Amino acid sequence: TTPAPLVVAIDGPSGSGKSSVSKAVARELGLAYLDTGAMYRAATWWCVEQGVELTDADAVAAAVRVMPLVMGVDPAAPGVHVGGTDVGEAIRSTAITAAVSAVATNLDVRAELRRLQREAIDAERTGGFSQGRGMVAEGRDITTVVAPDADARVLLTASEEARLARRALEVHGEAGDAAVEATRDQVLRRDQDDSAVSQFHVAADGVVTVDSSALDFAQTVEAVLGVVREHANR
Ligand code: DC
Repeated sequence: TTPAPLVVAIDGPSGSGKSSVSKAVARELGLAYLDTGAMYRAATWWCVEQGVELTDADAVAAAVRVMPLVMGVDPAAPGVHVGGTDVGEAIRSTAITAAVSAVATNLDVRAELRRLQREAIDAERTGGFSQGRGMVAEGRDITTVVAPDADARVLLTASEEARLARRALEVHGEAGDAAVEATRDQVLRRDQDDSAVSQFHVAADGVVTVDSSALDFAQTVEAVLGVVREHANR
């Protein structure tokens, strides 16, 4: 018999290693993968592309409602396309990263993207890329708002120190004092911006916290898989 579909929700701050861990968990379990942060980034890219003033909340919401977004859900190659344009790289630019919270705090945008996210999860419960095996969805409000009914829910955290070091390594290729200082403002500002949409330092009821500060990548993936096994009997 075919096992019941499995939905895994993973939230966490930037620099927690959420995206790479979520992709690895999805691959390990044969599930689809949804990067909801990439959806907010794509929405921001689209508004800029359309010449929409990001301070005009109604115009931003209207633009996002007609955004021709196609999210790839293969964890080995999760592409992001808007109207046929591959925006996978463009949405990671510093300009989009700096602008995204203006779009992510727009409540109408959140309602629209949440709708798309639920649609994507439901599609994987019955078919889709995973052929009904299910999905790992990651973001800021997946465990609480988008998929509170997920089979396993994880809050992936890391100490500020660990997150700064990882970001420095990502951006500068090293995590020495100067590199860490250079990323500090950026990381702390994003925490501040993101706190408008989620209290991600506090796990909601039924959400299991995995602190990756003292874990390497493989250990973090294993810890999340452990939560899935325990909570979803897999
Ligand atoms: O995870 P990320 O850095 O790609 O997220 C980009 C932005 O989108 C970040 O400012 C937080 C926001 N976001 C959100 O508000 N809700 C989500 N479910 C995912 C991301």
